[in-house]
Amino acid sequence: MKTIFKLIITAAVLALAGWTAKADEGMWLPSLISQRIGDMQEKGFKLNAEDIYSINQASLKDAVVLFGRGCTGELISPEGLLLTNHHCGYGQIQKHSSVEHDYLKDGFWAMSRAEELPNPGLTVSFLERMEDVTEKVLEGYDPQMSEAQRAELVKKNSKAIIDEATKEGKGLRATVEALYYGNQYFMFLYREYADVRLVGAPPSSIGKFGGDTDNWMWPRHTGDFSMFRIYADKDNNPAPYSKDNVPYKPKKFFRISTKGVHEGDFTFIYGFPGRTQEYIHSDGVRYIEETGDPHKINLRTLRLNIQKKYMGQSQKVRIQYSSKNATVANAWKKWQGEVKGIKKMKTVQTKQEFEKAFDRWAKGGEFDGVIAKIAQLYKDLEPYQFAADYYTETARTIELANFAAGILGSFKTDKESKAVTFDSGKASGMAESFYKDYYLPIDKECFVAVMTEFDSNVPAEFKPAYFTSMMKKYGSAQKWADALFGKSIFADRAKLEKLIEGCSTSKAAAKARKTVAADPATVFASEFAKWYAADVQPHATRINQELQLAYRDYMRGQMVYCRTQRVPKSFYPDANLTLRVAYGHIKGYSPSDAVYYKPSSTIKGIMQKDNPDIFDYNIPQRLRDIYAQKDYGRWTDETGEVPVCFIATNHTTGGNSGSPVINADGDLIGLNFDRVWEGTMSDIVFDPEICRNISLDVRYVLFTIEKLGKAEYLFDEMVFAE
Ligand code: ARG
Ligand code: ASP
Repeated sequence: MKTIFKLIITAAVLALAGWTAKADEGMWLPSLISQRIGDMQEKGFKLNAEDIYSINQASLKDAVVLFGRGCTGELISPEGLLLTNHHCGYGQIQKHSSVEHDYLKDGFWAMSRAEELPNPGLTVSFLERMEDVTEKVLEGYDPQMSEAQRAELVKKNSKAIIDEATKEGKGLRATVEALYYGNQYFMFLYREYADVRLVGAPPSSIGKFGGDTDNWMWPRHTGDFSMFRIYADKDNNPAPYSKDNVPYKPKKFFRISTKGVHEGDFTFIYGFPGRTQEYIHSDGVRYIEETGDPHKINLRTLRLNIQKKYMGQSQKVRIQYSSKNATVANAWKKWQGEVKGIKKMKTVQTKQEFEKAFDRWAKGGEFDGVIAKIAQLYKDLEPYQFAADYYTETARTIELANFAAGILGSFKTDKESKAVTFDSGKASGMAESFYKDYYLPIDKECFVAVMTEFDSNVPAEFKPAYFTSMMKKYGSAQKWADALFGKSIFADRAKLEKLIEGCSTSKAAAKARKTVAADPATVFASEFAKWYAADVQPHATRINQELQLAYRDYMRGQMVYCRTQRVPKSFYPDANLTLRVAYGHIKGYSPSDAVYYKPSSTIKGIMQKDNPDIFDYNIPQRLRDIYAQKDYGRWTDETGEVPVCFIATNHTTGGNSGSPVINADGDLIGLNFDRVWEGTMSDIVFDPEICRNISLDVRYVLFTIEKLGKAEYLFDEMVFAE
């Protein structure tokens, strides 16, 4: 009874969730967009809710994909042509690159379909539909259940829902996701395509122009795009890569608008934001601000400096570590902006005041005590969270150890006969891709740096016994590294390959397995993993489960409190890599006193930054020539320059990269790729004055395809809005 009652209350509260929302903050569920469409239309949008999301007709959602498992992409032709960011396709472009074919450096353009490059492992997922499954997920729930029992039940019921939804096969994939800390559950049904080929990418000097110096910054001039094509079987269904596959025919694709953007114009971002925590308790924010982010930043600074040093010495190493380096640098820089933003917004203090008022209101009611409970749980969690953060940012970053653990995992022992088998082919493949991008001196120096930090900062009672005994045995992280990297078979490719080749019989495989298991790199990985699994994770999981439970109440409590007490606050489910709508408008901002940033940038800014002596700002000579001759083609704005990027007030986060930027008519005007540094706290607290998403103007994409890629044949399959 009580459950049903709670569900009804929840439904009533959730239905009102959007009401008090302030302008522009929010990531809305497409299937519930009818609740927001009035506001969107008031702000200029000319289409209606069914145009955004529909299960009865083709709608804009059918032109948006989850690209891989962390980016967004959009369809821009009836023949499966897809646009996403350069940094989203980076891994693929990098994998196809070598010193001889350096597509990262020189760019790549398929001049015909036959030249498009396959990317095993890369998938794109279309959302078929989403559905509120709260009741089904909680079927059999009894309020007496512990959180762990509830989690079991949710898992079991979700599995049944997923199995039912995907039974037709044909690439269907489903997930059940908790919204509002499990006050609500939605099922997301996707169709996943696995033959996705690289069509083109500009050189990094355009696609990553400004590099990590400009990353997370405005004014920006990065041509952050790449193009792919989705292939399907002859019935338009998903199929693994095959020569016989044909270009996928989308239900919907975007028309391209070259009308341009102006301050105040309506903008709509449709994509897959990854993770936000807008409703967390002040102690959660305090940990991030004072402990989590600063320590993680420090550990990454050490690694980045080491990578940079070696990358500057060799072109080969620069290619090998370009993708890894960009990944490490990206969060590193974001965290720094985030800490500043949280401080500037006085988020901890504001939240504490809110919590105090909430607590007063809650006395004697359903939500009495929830604030104190959360505070206590954070206290309990903190040491484990700290250890977990250290584990992820230190031991888990040692490349040799991760590879060793992977190879050990390729040995299989039959449960009954105890016979050991080993997939040599697979292991060779793993070795091939590992060594292609491995440079031992970097890994070793990073090992020394991060293990030294681990030693100084992780409290003694949290250190793995293995770690302590190694440090004692060798006296320093440096000596330990000398021994580990000196002795490990993984440090010597030839030796490892011999071992892999020698595994033809079960007996030989069993012997090899022993060698691998006893290797110091494997031992390092497994001892740390064992420690984490025994001494950190179970505690963290238990406390986190209790936190979930408390947050479920607190979340509902916040909604009831704000509604009944007329406290203005937006309520939308935190991002969880599911499809969302974020709308706003083109707008500049003022990051500090006396400074104002205009909302769009042009090719002129590229030329102002151009500097052959600085790697990040060294543009292709061809672009200099084009600029000198003003050979811009049709891709100019009113001032006669080529527009490059623009900013707007849309609420976005990691995962929104590659998202279409849609204008009032529903046409594509750009693609989202970043946020401004001063606004990166928007995952925790959104400031409408400062938070801006950064997008690439579609006209710069078209300009680059034509003038640098000479691949304007691709325009033939696109549809232009005017
Ligand atoms: N900051 C953007 C995002 O979070 C772009 C990252 C890629 N670029 C780079 N220079 N690391 O993903
Ligand atoms: N650059 C991010 C991404 O890759 C977007 C962001 O965090 O704003 O998704």
